[in-house]
Amino acid sequence: MQWTFTLDQLPETARQFWEHFADKQVFTLDGPMGAGKTTLVKALCAAKGVEDATASPTFSIINEYAYRDKQGQPRRIFHLDLYRLKDEDDAISAGVEDTLYQDAISFVEWPEVVAHMLPPDTIHLQLEVQPDQKRILREIASSSK
Ligand SMILES: Nc1ncnc2c1ncn2[C@@H]1O[C@H](COP(=O)(O)OP(=O)(O)OP(=O)(O)O)[C@@H](O)[C@H]1O
Ligand SMILES: [Mg+2]
Repeated sequence: MQWTFTLDQLPETARQFWEHFADKQVFTLDGPMGAGKTTLVKALCAAKGVEDATASPTFSIINEYAYRDKQGQPRRIFHLDLYRLKDEDDAISAGVEDTLYQDAISFVEWPEVVAHMLPPDTIHLQLEVQPDQKRILREIASSSK
């Protein structure tokens, strides 16, 4: 599965994403600086019904968002930006490992530092910028990480 989208098409892409990945829980998000990883996560949160995704601090390592599932039960999405972490010890101190094993959705930007900590069924996503500035989102084989 892959999606190509402009900023305007992002809400619709996010909606389709959640039809495709209904029960998956941990996603890594690979892509160069400025590819639109954070923008994508916010749209994916909004598509789940998170109301305050744009109000979160940009510079924290772990952001937590709340939404309600179709049954009305409270659920959480974690957005982790590990760009500034040096190593696994750093990640553990920041609470990353605990977060990855919660019963919640997690998105991990800059996941290399926790490569050995990711749950076995982690979905690896890649975001690419096209020359026309559209973004391509695709799933990459987990064996390539
Ligand atoms: N689908 C898109 N089409 C065009 N522009 C986009 C798209 N998605 C994001 N952008 C723009 O790209 C810029 C960078 O976005 P963002 O901060 O989400 O990138 P990032 O990958 O999280 O960067 P970093 O690696 O620094 O965290 C923003 O100005 C955003 O508006
Ligand atoms: Mg970002």
